[in-house]
Amino acid sequence: MDILRAVKNKHCNYSKTAMMIGGAVVSGIVIATIILVPVLSSMSKKNYQNNVTRSHSSDSHATTQHPPLFVAAFNIKSFGDSKSQNKLLLRKIVQIISRYDVALLQEVRDQTSGKALKNLWQGLNATGSAYGLVHSKYLGRSSYKEQYAFFYRIGSAELTDTLQYDDSAHDIFEREPYTAEFTYYSTKGKRRKRIAFMALHAKPKEAKRELKELPSVMKLTLNHFRHSHGIIAMGDFNADCSYLSNKRKGDLEIFKVNGSFKSLIDHSADTTVASTTDCAYDRAVAYPNSVGVMDAKVFDFQKAFHLSEAEAKKVSDHFPIEFKVL
Ligand SMILES: *[C@@H]1O[C@H](CO)[C@@H](O)[C@H](O)[C@H]1NC(C)=O
Ligand SMILES: *[C@@H]1O[C@H](CO)[C@@H](O)[C@H](O)[C@H]1NC(C)=O
Ligand SMILES: *[C@@H]1O[C@H](CO)[C@@H](O)[C@H](O)[C@H]1NC(C)=O
Repeated sequence: MDILRAVKNKHCNYSKTAMMIGGAVVSGIVIATIILVPVLSSMSKKNYQNNVTRSHSSDSHATTQHPPLFVAAFNIKSFGDSKSQNKLLLRKIVQIISRYDVALLQEVRDQTSGKALKNLWQGLNATGSAYGLVHSKYLGRSSYKEQYAFFYRIGSAELTDTLQYDDSAHDIFEREPYTAEFTYYSTKGKRRKRIAFMALHAKPKEAKRELKELPSVMKLTLNHFRHSHGIIAMGDFNADCSYLSNKRKGDLEIFKVNGSFKSLIDHSADTTVASTTDCAYDRAVAYPNSVGVMDAKVFDFQKAFHLSEAEAKKVSDHFPIEFKVL
């Protein structure tokens, strides 16, 4: 314990940040959560509960089962004003993100006005579900910076806290991992569970170095979120093709078969939109390996929405990866 604390102090300098858009919004979310959560969750679970109530006893609470938490990580390629002001494009992005209970966006570049995230947020709220938003600061060593943003469906997932990893002592990461912890209804049992989602958009040319560091950052972060039953790191890890050879993949702890981490996306997956590339850049890795996850895959929105390759590329050069947490 003492050793761990010493290590933590020496290498990490965790600075706790709960970055939300202004106090007003925070209290707005809190109030909305108090008022809306019971209403929304009873709405979204209505069909299921009817089913359960019909087929089981009269005590619906004791037998209620919840659908798994549907999660995605999406490198949305330079999401800023020009993208969010294109109504057709924004509608497609809303269509993608509103599939999920929790969606991590990477490459948010909304620095000048802050309007892009707000437009997207409004678009999501207009789908009929209320969404929450939490995001990191702008991250990056040079003047080129990006933001991580989590949108979450209020009622399905409730934000408890965030953590910005600080690696200034060693400066391993171009964009230091940013973690959001949520409570959600597990499919197993009736109590809410906690889980932490860690965002990482690795620097392409330093993917190996950053990914080698990831296990210890995940462990330390889970240690911080001590009520979470697990942590899932996700995002564009640039973990393939010219940035990460097969040999290097084999050296990484996050990809060890039967190790203490569980890699959710196959090395053979293609998370790129371009038909000329076949790279499993975007990944998700769970720790410990006992975290219950199913249906992990790439969401090919080009196919799902019947888009041409050119239309799909306007949305992003990456497909989201998605999975369900039990
Ligand atoms: C979206 O809905 C949430 C919950 O009602 C609210 O707190 C938030 O302000 C809304 N966002 C926008 C941009 O209107
Ligand atoms: C409702 O019950 C039927 C039959 O038992 C089952 O096949 C179906 O998956 C259930 N639907 C839901 C939403 O649980
Ligand atoms: C992983 O574990 C499974 C089940 O115990 C076993 O069948 C498989 O051979 C193991 N794979 C490796 C690479 O150790």
